[in-house]
Amino acid sequence: MSTQEIRTIAVIGAGTMGHGIAQVAAQAGYEVWLHDVTDGLLERAHARVVDNLAQGIVRGKLTEEGRERALAALRTTANLEQAAASADLVIEAIVEELNMKRNLFKRLEALCPPHATLATNTSSLSIAEIAASVREPARVIGMHFFNPAHIMKLLEIVVAPQTGDAALQAAREVGARMKKEAIVVRDVPGFATSRLGICLGLEAMRMLEEGVASAADIDQALELGYNHPMGPLRLTDLVGLDIRLSVAEYLHSKLGERFRPPEILKRKVAEGKLGKKTGEGFYRWDE
Ligand code: NAI
Repeated sequence: MSTQEIRTIAVIGAGTMGHGIAQVAAQAGYEVWLHDVTDGLLERAHARVVDNLAQGIVRGKLTEEGRERALAALRTTANLEQAAASADLVIEAIVEELNMKRNLFKRLEALCPPHATLATNTSSLSIAEIAASVREPARVIGMHFFNPAHIMKLLEIVVAPQTGDAALQAAREVGARMKKEAIVVRDVPGFATSRLGICLGLEAMRMLEEGVASAADIDQALELGYNHPMGPLRLTDLVGLDIRLSVAEYLHSKLGERFRPPEILKRKVAEGKLGKKTGEGFYRWDE
């Protein structure tokens, strides 16, 4: 793989993360292809980007001209071949399921130009296992963005044992142009962010179970006592309790007892109380 200037980025998966990643890529001046499986999902994603950009103007973060440039750079397609054909970098943001990601990476390797870097936005899965699905694993790297991707400053770059220097350089370069602050982390379960974030979240849930304090008071303990912008229970409501549960189960299997999901989390997920997206998690959001 040669180092080549990155002009075109393909974002695969246009959900919560994909639409925001595509937006920051377009705002950073890249040509962007956003791909998902149906035109309907792509229309919804595009509308979300239009909305985010409008809010950016209201908040004084963006000019009309900047918005027009970003929108002109962002194209959508339900055809994976079209998205991949000219990509110098792919950022995958499909569902958190190892086999689906491995199958996709296999297809991407066949469809993308040979120099393209293949990045995944996974929040917990092993980059090494994803990389093992392609013939040239040196091209694969983790680029973990945070929700909402167009606002959060951090980019966690995750380097597997197979990851090559060119992929790391590409991730760093793109992160800098997107105005993200990058950290580079070895490919261990949960990386740095999910491991620390889940740890705090699970302990807060156990405290709630034990009746130590209310959800609001536990959150305030960290917000006011430690200057966290948001407490761990409210954050879990925003991320989705189902997502947190699956990451906790994965870390439990890899790192042991301290990541065992608390009963309260399993119960709420079983009841469909997944957080803000369903109107209730540790808080009610529908009032
Ligand atoms: P989401 O469920 O909102 O979006 C996933 C999208 O991928 C859906 O629109 C779906 O139609 C599409 N998709 C599924 N299979 C596909 C395929 N084979 N080809 C093309 N598109 C496909 O999921 P979300 O939350 O955006 O998560 C995506 C990835 O980002 C996951 O790996 C997740 O762990 C990671 N992540 C999520 C964060 C969050 O706060 N939600 C934060 C950081 C990373």
